[in-house]
Amino acid sequence: MSTLVIVGSQWGDEGKGKVTDYLAQEADVVVRSQGGNNAGHTILFDGQKFALRSIPSGIFNPNIKNIMANGMVIDPKQALEELHGLEERGIKKYQLFISNRAHIVLPYHAALDGAFEQFKGDKKIGTTKRGIGPAYADKANRIGIRMGEFIEPEVFKEQLKITLEIKNMELRMLGLEEFDFDTVYAEYSEYAKELKPFVCDTALLLEEEIEKNSKILFEGAQGVMLCLDHGTYPYVTSSSPTGASVPLNSGVAPRYITDVLGICKAYTTRVGEGPFPTELDGDLASYIRERGHEYGTVTKRPRRVGYLDCVALNYARRISGINHLALMLFDVLSGLDTLKICYAYELDGKKIETIPATTYDYTRVKPLYIELPGWKEDITHVKSFDELPVAAKNYIRKIEELTKIKVSLFSVGPDRKQTILLEELFK
Ligand code: IMP
Repeated sequence: MSTLVIVGSQWGDEGKGKVTDYLAQEADVVVRSQGGNNAGHTILFDGQKFALRSIPSGIFNPNIKNIMANGMVIDPKQALEELHGLEERGIKKYQLFISNRAHIVLPYHAALDGAFEQFKGDKKIGTTKRGIGPAYADKANRIGIRMGEFIEPEVFKEQLKITLEIKNMELRMLGLEEFDFDTVYAEYSEYAKELKPFVCDTALLLEEEIEKNSKILFEGAQGVMLCLDHGTYPYVTSSSPTGASVPLNSGVAPRYITDVLGICKAYTTRVGEGPFPTELDGDLASYIRERGHEYGTVTKRPRRVGYLDCVALNYARRISGINHLALMLFDVLSGLDTLKICYAYELDGKKIETIPATTYDYTRVKPLYIELPGWKEDITHVKSFDELPVAAKNYIRKIEELTKIKVSLFSVGPDRKQTILLEELFK
């Protein structure tokens, strides 16, 4: 058996979709275990661009079983729109399994998400406003509705009645429009009917696949620095995008998780608010943003851009057990005279090598950099490590030295073919 966990090792948007798609060609099963349609995975192949949000990236291959596991919060309307969109573009044969324990996102979640953000004013999180936080809050508060209940009309009706009463109270307090039970029920029961054939006990299915020695790829969403527990709280998402969360969020025993591939950009980006020590502005930020097309897949917001932060990468390695690194968007850095990598921070005059727990401290750290020569050559056609310019090779070696993780893969462009594998990942 071989399992491989893919985690974002920065603040999300590292290119997990591309790596998952690339490695999925060898996988039997692809699992999304947390988050929802706040994620945006862009995949490019055969000249076609696909933007996936909640559907796993193995969906393009009819031989792959795609699992949306129990740790996800799924917006039924959006998930169906995504599936219909894929079908319209010729992706008609696919295998999809949705956990009966996954929670559903209803329209009041998005309304509350937006209202909380507005209420917080300049302390807002900068969420995707897809209702992710409020849906996970309902789960923790034990008033969430799960797929298993959603697809049973009478059970859904009963649960929606109770939950909607509570939610309407919250909406009233915030001065927002309430939701009408009959309207929500009528619309969402239609989605439930359509989703029902996909719903099952996905943990059981995973156990069968493990027994068959299948190759299982766990596709992360967001990134370690956005983890509810270990990220830059409160500027985080409401689930845990770490390797450690995969067993819990998919129902697979921890002992089956051995390899964790951390995905990182050759630089750093962040969307939404919160501390970002290596953030750049001015011409250099624009250069990287435009070359890397750094605009949100979901919200289209321009992403904040910065130098590579190895303190954050080391933190992600430690928290997530990352033992391989995939370096993405490497070609974006071509054309620069020099490059900087952050190897430590300074806080109150002291050198620190980890992420402070509080926003108060984290916003005060100063990044300490090493400077490396850049390279001018276009590297988008490179097919091996040896073909890289010396300065680009040195950049990779320096990352390995600072993070103590081997770079197993690097990417020099958006196409599947522009992925250079340096080490076999699926054993
Ligand atoms: P939420 O997940 O919509 O609640 O947003 C919380 C924070 O996580 C915000 O800063 C978002 O920008 C960020 N976030 C959520 N999903 C992603 C993602 O897929 N990529 C990058 N950032 C994300």
